[in-house]
Amino acid sequence: MARQRILHFPEGFLWGTATSSYQFEGGNTNNQWYRWEQQGHILTGDRCGDACGWWRHAEQDFALAEQMESNALRLSVEWSRIEPSEGQWDSAALERYRAMLMDLRERYIKPIVTLHHFTDPLWFADRGSFMDEDNIQYFIRYVRYVVEGLRDLCDFWMTINELNVYASVGYVLGLFPPGEHDVTHAMLVLRNLVQAHVEAFYAIRSLQPQAEIGYCLHYHPLDPANELSPLDRAVAGIQDTFYGWAPLQAAETGRFPFPLNFFLSPIPHAPGSRDYHGVNYYTREIVRFDPTRPAEAFGRRFINPGSMRNDPGRGLDFGEIYPYGLYRVLKSVYRKTRGNKPIYITENGFTDAIDDRRPRAILEHLAMVHRAISEGIPVKGYLHWSLVDNFEWAEGWGVRFGLIELDPQTQERTPRSSASLFGEICRANAITEEIVERYAPGALEFIFGPADGASRQIPVR
Ligand code: FCB
Repeated sequence: MARQRILHFPEGFLWGTATSSYQFEGGNTNNQWYRWEQQGHILTGDRCGDACGWWRHAEQDFALAEQMESNALRLSVEWSRIEPSEGQWDSAALERYRAMLMDLRERYIKPIVTLHHFTDPLWFADRGSFMDEDNIQYFIRYVRYVVEGLRDLCDFWMTINELNVYASVGYVLGLFPPGEHDVTHAMLVLRNLVQAHVEAFYAIRSLQPQAEIGYCLHYHPLDPANELSPLDRAVAGIQDTFYGWAPLQAAETGRFPFPLNFFLSPIPHAPGSRDYHGVNYYTREIVRFDPTRPAEAFGRRFINPGSMRNDPGRGLDFGEIYPYGLYRVLKSVYRKTRGNKPIYITENGFTDAIDDRRPRAILEHLAMVHRAISEGIPVKGYLHWSLVDNFEWAEGWGVRFGLIELDPQTQERTPRSSASLFGEICRANAITEEIVERYAPGALEFIFGPADGASRQIPVR
């Protein structure tokens, strides 16, 4: 019998899922997202409500994560619970988080704690959130309070989730609070978020010298519609720089690239202020030059026609399922940072309510991670978004990202086939031919190459 083909992952690789407070806990009524919801901005008209009920019983889902034998779980702490009004601390909220972290540790699941995942307490939003550089001090005071209170239970911190999404979707696209359409404001917010990360990094470092501390960005490759068209290439390049690479460069060097450096001041002490790079990757888009779109740097974005798709949302289309994009992003982050730190994939996932594409998508994306690792890129972990279906911001309950299906009304959980697949991968710390055959035989060639084993060339598009 022919030997089974296997892609092994490195020993100690972190396998887990990613979550966030507002999308999972339920009962959060003291932040700007709740207010946004009350104002009627959720495109489906849904309410977050009890979300996945985690404030009362996150432990039920931690047990499911344990059954999958995942060894890491990313969750966020909710600033508006911990500091409900300015300078007032709720020690009971901190205790609840302590209980969650203890429960995870008892299950041998490493907690990765995000300190800011899109939500601002109302009092902070009313002060102008991160538009005002002077407000950064409030964030740092909160970070200190949390790290002092949880450092015996957590040594892996993410300061701020997706600085570029918070800035662009809230201040340019207007789909997230505060619902602005102002590129200048978005850039200022982005700059201040980078500074907030840098200051948080040093604050945590001084309180817990051995901790791993980083942030993550959302990477979304933008490819020219016609590779031979200088205009398509130029507009795709500009959008790509503004969205993904400018924030990375600012965090790495303290300076934004030209021409942003004309009006965004440098960020002191940025170089060296992270222990890892957090990569969130979902999809890519194609860009064509369009003179009628000055606000989008003259580029019209669209989904690659004929590609395999995620379930669409109402505001944001979740787009193409494009595994090769993850490999490209990993490679670019590695190159642009000169391979200076380990990389964690801190989010990657798919909207697929009936789970007929997700198993294959998971396997093919992981094959790309494996390829990056085998080329020497230090990827140390993969966190799938997400463990169970959850409240997807402006899309409400309209799109389903969970390995496990959730009925928000009854709170009933039904594991999808993807959950058992992910469990098998975690347990094996590998992708085996047998796993692929059982969950997505159509992916065999993509992952292992032709059956005759002649070559292991992975197709590009
Ligand atoms: C990311 C967010 C996360 C989730 C996924 C689908 O941009 O960080 O909270 O909504 O998208």
